[in-house]
Amino acid sequence: MEVTADGCSVDGYLVLPPSGEPEIVDAAVPPGASILELGSGAGRITHPLVKLGHEVVAVDDSPAMLAHVRAETVCARIGDLDLGRTFDAVLLASHLLNTERDADRRAMLAAARRHLAPDGRLIVEWHPPEWFDTVASGQGGRLGEVVVELADVARIGDLLSATVRYSARGRTWDQEFTCRRIALEAVLTAAGLTFERWLIADRNWFAARHHRPG
Ligand SMILES: C[S@@+](CC[C@H](N)C(=O)[O-])C[C@H]1O[C@@H](n2cnc3c(N)ncnc32)[C@H](O)[C@@H]1O
Repeated sequence: MEVTADGCSVDGYLVLPPSGEPEIVDAAVPPGASILELGSGAGRITHPLVKLGHEVVAVDDSPAMLAHVRAETVCARIGDLDLGRTFDAVLLASHLLNTERDADRRAMLAAARRHLAPDGRLIVEWHPPEWFDTVASGQGGRLGEVVVELADVARIGDLLSATVRYSARGRTWDQEFTCRRIALEAVLTAAGLTFERWLIADRNWFAARHHRPG
């Protein structure tokens, strides 16, 4: 079974359907926008975005994930990416912003910014601070045929570790992760970005832009 450097099962992501992410992104960007998708995985969000008329470049450091993507792909670490072109939107989903490593977060945001057109939007899915206070083992639900359940939730200061268990077709995939509670405004300001607006009421998605002094 192929597993990415950050512990995602390729097989698991192939059976996991989208759950509204493409529509949230589509509503936040102009029609036919060019989108740079950072951490695309196997194309769960990429493919619906292409269907909605967007030109998507999918970036991931897992060749096994990218092998399933039906769009332009780039195999690279997000922080190292320098394509020498800009996009109407840069998408950073899947809570990658909450990485436990501050240097990775800074590198990801710097990469996002250098690929963002002057009027472009950075679209982010993250864990807001309130999620860290309320999340608990046993929470979960169903995405299509996949049952998702959280286990082993543990908190140490700003860090939260847990295991997500995906079950479908008689198989189970466990993904352990650790994420960090972050102060959004400070993180964006340090990256030369400005918060624009929440994209949904629960504050799991937001848009940001280049910071313009004055
Ligand atoms: C949780 S999966 C989500 C994939 C996709 N966004 C989705 O929602 O289906 C995270 C993906 O990001 C990739 N990834 C994580 N950190 C990365 C990094 N620093 N550079 C490139 N890819 C990364 C992993 O290889 C994995 O495919």
